[in-house]
Amino acid sequence: MTTHDGYDKISGIYDMFTDQATLDFYSSFATEFSEVLDIGAGTGRIALSIARKGTRVIAVEPSPAMAREFRAKLDREPALKNLITLIEAGAGSFGAGRIVPAAFMAGSFDHLLTNEERLRALSNIANHLEPGGRLVFEIWPGLMTDNPEIWAGETKVGDTTYKRKVGRRVLPDGTVELELVYDVFRGDEVIERIEQHSRVGISDRESVHRLLSQAGFRVVHEYGDYERTPNKDGDSILLLDTIKETIKLGH
Ligand SMILES: C[S@@+](CC[C@H](N)C(=O)[O-])C[C@H]1O[C@@H](n2cnc3c(N)ncnc32)[C@H](O)[C@@H]1O
Repeated sequence: MTTHDGYDKISGIYDMFTDQATLDFYSSFATEFSEVLDIGAGTGRIALSIARKGTRVIAVEPSPAMAREFRAKLDREPALKNLITLIEAGAGSFGAGRIVPAAFMAGSFDHLLTNEERLRALSNIANHLEPGGRLVFEIWPGLMTDNPEIWAGETKVGDTTYKRKVGRRVLPDGTVELELVYDVFRGDEVIERIEQHSRVGISDRESVHRLLSQAGFRVVHEYGDYERTPNKDGDSILLLDTIKETIKLGH
């Protein structure tokens, strides 16, 4: 069962360490459609950007802390409120009460820890898509190994510097504990340390293809980065662009 507390301590600084490439990739995909599902929407950084261009967004986010940040941002841009619906739930259980032409899971699919959870999520998403509707998401097969904490990113806001360390530990049950440590500096002095642990699953290309087919999706493109370079063996990332089959195939 997924726990949804892996973002509670860092929701306020989450956006500082996100990258433009994911935002550009998912935004360009979403703008092809009049309405999209953004599943695992986080603080709404992609949803808000898409809505600013006029696309309606149904955002799904299970972490109360991330959803709170999202709502605070929406309060600062009230003009977007009639374009965005935020549902506080996970990918496997949300119910939007409508069918849309496209969905994406930006950085959230790996939070599904078991094949059972992944299939439940994919099936629920399929039930929310029109026949021929698209689903795009990524997995990170190349990163899911034991890795000691290493420095990964630095951001300055006024006279405060935030430095991030990321580490990964493969647990006996085959999932990965992601360890994030943020040191907050004023000058050379560390004034605060924020530590956040979250869990991610390990999935590979073959098992994801099988689950997609069981849920009624066909893979149309596979990329190895957010610039849409075709995926090849050994790439850290696998980005999957899929279509909901008009007739569901057998298992
Ligand atoms: C790496 S963040 C990405 C946030 C956002 N999509 C972005 O790109 O800025 C992953 C998000 O997935 C959410 N998440 C975790 N488990 C989930 C689940 N079962 N269903 C949907 N989202 C989930 C987390 O709460 C978190 O907000």
